[in-house]
Amino acid sequence: DLGTEFLERPLANPLMNAAGVWCTLAAQLDALADSEAAAIVTKSCTLVRRDGNPEPRYRALPLGSINSMGLPNEGYLYYLDYAAHHDYDHKPLFVSVSGLSLDDNLTIVAALRDVVLPALLEINLSCPNVPGKAQPGYDFEAMDELLAEVATAYRRPFGVKLPPYFDFAHFDTVAQILNRYEHLAFITCINSVGNALIIDTGQESAVIRPKDGFGGLGGDYVLPTALANVNAFHRRCPTKTIIGCGGVRTGEHVFQHLLAGATLVQVGTALYEEGPGIFQRLARELAELMAHKGYRRIDEFRGRLKTL
Ligand code: DHB
Repeated sequence: DLGTEFLERPLANPLMNAAGVWCTLAAQLDALADSEAAAIVTKSCTLVRRDGNPEPRYRALPLGSINSMGLPNEGYLYYLDYAAHHDYDHKPLFVSVSGLSLDDNLTIVAALRDVVLPALLEINLSCPNVPGKAQPGYDFEAMDELLAEVATAYRRPFGVKLPPYFDFAHFDTVAQILNRYEHLAFITCINSVGNALIIDTGQESAVIRPKDGFGGLGGDYVLPTALANVNAFHRRCPTKTIIGCGGVRTGEHVFQHLLAGATLVQVGTALYEEGPGIFQRLARELAELMAHKGYRRIDEFRGRLKTL
């Protein structure tokens, strides 16, 4: 039994897509709705439609992926319309919001609130790929101000998508900020490891065009960083629900995210490479691993990571 609960809603399993992957157009979201994923999140949206950065802007690598998409999306009204027609009895839908300014975020959040859908807001504090824009996730004052305004404007449970952190002082500071917001119900860790550079030795060249080749890393490269961030916020934010994201390609990786304290687990790079059929494979592999270990339910091990 892979059943779990997210904010008091029962789910068939803990699996969903990561924002950005297979979720920009209605046909892609429909494919996720028809897959074994138990929940869905839309591409991060902005006030107005964006083409995104010039191609090539995504490259698959032996150990993961690098991307600098630049927020290509259809604009928030498109995703609100999709949300209005979604079947919430079938599975929850998250709407990822990544406005380019505080005002843009507040406009989108107010619109989402006013339609009073059961859609869940995931506010993206961590898009690393828009030239000239700092991530709120790495500017703690800006993050606090944005959360204060969003919490006031939205007045319902919502969540944040965080970038990875690499220092205990940052885990402490960010957790302290998040814990001040009662409506902040869930925390998604992590977005891509930002601004890496992959070099093709033969070509003596970057492998993606935008930002001189700098882009966000996903896949195997980032699993240990993702697990650390999931567990760091699980320990520091006991009243929040953690969604794990980063480096999930097998059922064992899902198990590790759950053990570290995740309630749901998102799939990015591996979904991009394998397509929505991956959810069936991951569910089977997780069920097999649990059976092998003698676990009947996720509750029996979730968050129970041992330390030495
Ligand atoms: C994009 C990348 C991200 O990591 C993100 O959080 C939002 C958008 C992008 O490049 O499109």
